[in-house]
Amino acid sequence: MTLPVLTTARLTIRPLRLDDLDAFAAIFADAETMAASRRTYSREESRGWIERSLMRYERDGFALFAVVRTVDGRYVGDCGPSVQAVDGVDEVEIGWHIRRDLWGRGYATEAALALRDWAFDDRGLGPLTAFVEPSNVPSCRVAEKIGTRVERDAVVFGFLHHVYAMAPGDRVMDRG
Ligand SMILES: CC(C)(COP(=O)(O)OP(=O)(O)OC[C@H]1O[C@@H](n2cnc3c(N)ncnc32)[C@H](O)[C@@H]1OP(=O)(O)O)[C@@H](O)C(=O)NCCC(=O)NCCS
Repeated sequence: MTLPVLTTARLTIRPLRLDDLDAFAAIFADAETMAASRRTYSREESRGWIERSLMRYERDGFALFAVVRTVDGRYVGDCGPSVQAVDGVDEVEIGWHIRRDLWGRGYATEAALALRDWAFDDRGLGPLTAFVEPSNVPSCRVAEKIGTRVERDAVVFGFLHHVYAMAPGDRVMDRG
């Protein structure tokens, strides 16, 4: 399975590596960034998260990817599709975390649009879903801007979420 290295106007999106741990763990240790998870992650837990992503690359051919700013190589966050079992059904969920000092610059939307198109066009994946709590307005906006729409509300991971979904033909916004 060939893993992607995608480029957008400002970003390079590539597989996570263990040497991303410092930057990855800083995001996952930040309480405000991880509010939706209601917990932060230790450095060792972040290492485990990266290791599971490496395993998922092998098993599924995709998982969260690293998002890096091309101009200076700065680690911006993570984004990507991953398989989530919900009520016994495997769904491909697209998710995102951006380092807090870089919020509001359009990076999540830019990365998610590129990964949406890679998932549909290169990887041939079917519907993409995004599980977002209604109170997580920035994340709802990213979901809406990439073209997913609220299909239903459901208790996922123990909390009420909007279940956003889209098929390849639902795309209205191009990567640009
Ligand atoms: C959700 C997240 C990834 C968005 O990243 P981002 O790079 O700031 O997103 P963008 O710049 O692409 O902006 C997307 C939208 O969110 C809005 N937004 C960004 N930061 C915001 C804030 N602090 N408050 C309200 N809206 C905000 C933007 O204005 C934009 O909406 P608009 O087009 O209506 O203006 C980021 O806030 C984050 O990492 N949050 C914590 C992790 C998380 O909740 N992940 C998702 C779990 S479901």
